Amino acid sequence: MVRSVQHDMLPQSTHDDVARQQFVVALKQGLNRSIRSSNKRLFEEVVAPEFAARTGATPDDRDTIRGAMYSHPAYRGWSTMHRSAQELMWTSVADVVARDTERLQQQAARLTQPAKRRGSLELDPSVQAPRGVANLDIHLQTGGYMMNRSPEDVAAGALYEVGGNLYAFGQGLGKHDSKAAHVQRFLAEKFPDLKPERILDMGCSAGSASVPYALEFPDAEVHAIDVAPAMLRYAHARAESLAAAVHFHQRDAADTKFPDSYFDLIVSHNMMHEIPDSTRRGMLKESWRMLAPGGVAVHQDVPLQFKGLSEFQKFEMSWDTLNNNEPYWEVYASADLAADAKAAGIPDAQVYVGNLPQATQSLPWFVTVITKPAA
Ligand SMILES: C[S@@+](CC[C@H](N)C(=O)[O-])C[C@H]1O[C@@H](n2cnc3c(N)ncnc32)[C@H](O)[C@@H]1O
Repeated sequence: MVRSVQHDMLPQSTHDDVARQQFVVALKQGLNRSIRSSNKRLFEEVVAPEFAARTGATPDDRDTIRGAMYSHPAYRGWSTMHRSAQELMWTSVADVVARDTERLQQQAARLTQPAKRRGSLELDPSVQAPRGVANLDIHLQTGGYMMNRSPEDVAAGALYEVGGNLYAFGQGLGKHDSKAAHVQRFLAEKFPDLKPERILDMGCSAGSASVPYALEFPDAEVHAIDVAPAMLRYAHARAESLAAAVHFHQRDAADTKFPDSYFDLIVSHNMMHEIPDSTRRGMLKESWRMLAPGGVAVHQDVPLQFKGLSEFQKFEMSWDTLNNNEPYWEVYASADLAADAKAAGIPDAQVYVGNLPQATQSLPWFVTVITKPAA
């Protein structure tokens, strides 16, 4: 399934909205591709020599590099524009969603009518989101993931889907780059005999990854969990509009309440870099507990691990923590996922941590794979 799939829950953009969104994507592509790539040269040819001349020392750790780079107007200029482009991206979507709110809510009600629906939605207001998720507009998303202004609110999901796509295109990712499709190819190649009867998608957001599994395995019982209620309402209606039977639940990935050995396939997509250490470790433990014998868990995420990176690359990665409200970006980058899996009681031999093969206009997505031996 492609990244920019069309369905009845998409907010309706006017010609002017689309022009604005295309401008933001072009601006982001310029800032990401042309200028960002010259930041290293700026450091090596200008900033580091000037720093050495001034202090007699070499800027050789992430924090010193950051201080030296921010003292240069060219880097400060790039950083300011990069932040502004992210803000512009969200307003170019938030205006559309705000204008279309009533129609979107009506669509959701129509699509999820009891007589018609294939899946379901279970909300539980007692579920707590991690502090950095509950109290912050992660990557500057308008209102944050937990925005929930009424019992019909679906805006967080609409914002996430449309803004997320613009973000990906601004990074140069193609329309055909779908994270679920990468994992599905990996599963087909490495586990050709896997025919899951029950599937779980953790941290599903708008359900963009949950739907492809439900369509690929139409006989499976598919569940998806998230802590954000308006995200889940949107995801449910979106899945119905794509004729996918998915059961959405407001639950914590570190305490899912599903029975032991319940799932043959557990997945998460781009979730690990947005949760604290404790939730990540909890979700690995839950994955092991919930996997049936012969089952597989694939936790896919951004290729963002500090291991083997230079101090300059680490400094570059810290941009999102400092400027883009990504409190767990570096938490994830510094994590030792194999050690986490071991601490969760998973034997070494049942864990694979590494990259997926890179497709055209795609990232070399990173995965933590857990397999449970057949009984
Ligand atoms: C980057 S989004 C995931 C994207 C999504 N999987 C996709 O493929 O489009 C991270 C999601 O994790 C959810 N989340 C954060 N903490 C969670 C937790 N403890 N349990 C379940 N979901 C959580 C957030 O609400 C958010 O929707």
